[in-house]
Amino acid sequence: MSDPIIFKKKIITVVLVICVLLQFGFLGVIAFADDEVNEVIRKVDSTMNVNDPVYSLFKTKRCSMCHAVDHTLIGPPFRAISIRYKDADDTQIRTLAKTVMYGGIRNWGEVPMPANSVTLSEAELLVRWILRLSHGEL
Ligand code: HEC
Repeated sequence: MSDPIIFKKKIITVVLVICVLLQFGFLGVIAFADDEVNEVIRKVDSTMNVNDPVYSLFKTKRCSMCHAVDHTLIGPPFRAISIRYKDADDTQIRTLAKTVMYGGIRNWGEVPMPANSVTLSEAELLVRWILRLSHGEL
């Protein structure tokens, strides 16, 4: 403990690392809460490279807190979203990705979707992944 400033920095780093680990643990529990979503993850697991960005996004971005695949939770089922937008072109996909990023209301009902902590390209990957459900890929 030679230099008190370095010591403080070390403590701050350790606390930050612990916070990050706790957060991931928490997110993990939520991401795995839904059986149907788990089932899809299993299917994705066997068909998708674990290095695929959608795989980790799906696990960590808490979508499954409000969305299941085949039934309504707080948000509409992913499959219903997929069916509604199955013919979406790139522009519509971009719009949906913005909705995922910034939140949305009254596309499905009165319950709003809050903003999600995803970048636009992450949101787009997730939307494309959801839309593949209606094409029988999952
Ligand atoms: C806190 C709950 C909640 C979370 C978390 C959440 N959603 Fe939603 N989502 C909703 C609700 C509610 C709606 C319906 C909103 C509406 O009627 O416009 C919705 C709608 C959607 C739609 C359809 C939008 C439209 O314009 O039709 C997509 C796509 C979507 N969510 C994807 C995601 C993805 C991907 C994630 C994870 C990054 C996510 N959601 C996280 C609650 C949530």
